Amino acid sequence: MNPDLPPALRQGIDSLLQGVGRSGLAERAAAMSAGYRAGQGSKVVIRTAEDAAAYAAARLPATYAAVARALSEADDRLIDFAPRSLLDAGAGPGAAGWAATSIWTSLETAVLLDSSRIFLDLAARLAASGAPALAQAEHRLADLTQVQTLPEADLVMASYVLAEMAQDKVPDLVSNLWAACTGALVLVEPGSVEGWTRIKLARERLTALGAVIAAPCAHDLSCPVIAPDWCHFVQRLPRSREHRQAKGADRPFEDEKFIYLVAVRADRHLRPAEDRILAPPRQSKIALEFKVCTTDGACRQRQIARRDRSDYAIARRLDWGDGLGTRAD
Ligand SMILES: C[S@@+](CC[C@H](N)C(=O)[O-])C[C@H]1O[C@@H](n2cnc3c(N)ncnc32)[C@H](O)[C@@H]1O
Repeated sequence: MNPDLPPALRQGIDSLLQGVGRSGLAERAAAMSAGYRAGQGSKVVIRTAEDAAAYAAARLPATYAAVARALSEADDRLIDFAPRSLLDAGAGPGAAGWAATSIWTSLETAVLLDSSRIFLDLAARLAASGAPALAQAEHRLADLTQVQTLPEADLVMASYVLAEMAQDKVPDLVSNLWAACTGALVLVEPGSVEGWTRIKLARERLTALGAVIAAPCAHDLSCPVIAPDWCHFVQRLPRSREHRQAKGADRPFEDEKFIYLVAVRADRHLRPAEDRILAPPRQSKIALEFKVCTTDGACRQRQIARRDRSDYAIARRLDWGDGLGTRAD
């Protein structure tokens, strides 16, 4: 899985930024991040085309990387999934569509829906150099909390959107997204306790509606992770020079904490589930230790002993978020 932006998207963002001064951009991006951190939604934070450009420069690379990771996990589990239509709900500047079209070249049509005209205009401008499904996408202005019937699609996505909703709105919105979904629904949220809480609410509603959870959970039973612990993952992504400038940062990479959920229709064919690694593996003198969500619905530690040489060699390459397979214990 490649967390780097597709070259055409990166060029599109770079050309947006021409004419925006470096310090102006970094200040705008800092104010935007502070607003999001303080719990303000995009309606408050993104008021002008320049604000949206700052989002594209400073935040989009990370939301792209997290969505690309979630979609690649979906792709790993789904057999013969070749979606033709896409709905990106709360699309913002459209990162999720770019990630989807880089994984599934089968996509022919896309609807990008958002309540922000500013974001939709930016998404359309960037998408002009994307895959045909993106370049010809419909950009629909709508409020997800008001519309009930959404356009049907094989792949429905909502990334970093539930965070902008009151918790009590999440289950009904998820029902509407699920009603529109003929194949797979992919949700991605910040890897915070609040993000996990919303994903758990979404998961409860989806399983009640008969959805099968394909990832990251190894099962459809209730979530075994107990607060104050919470389920989340980390995706590392490279920072381009422009991304570093927008963030006013020197480090050539960043780690995006995120949580996601892939729910699929019950008639979809899936590869067998594997225990999911829920934390960075720990190495002792005699074994590798993994905290995992298991296929029988528990959260526990598993070990792979150094003496089990071939399993150990494979396990050493595994990381937080990967499937552990049938090795261990
Ligand atoms: C943090 S941005 C995420 C954008 C994009 N999905 C991404 O991953 O980068 C949240 C997006 O959700 C949209 N949004 C928030 N509430 C909405 C609502 N009620 N109806 C439609 N869109 C909404 C915002 O306008 C914004 O584009």
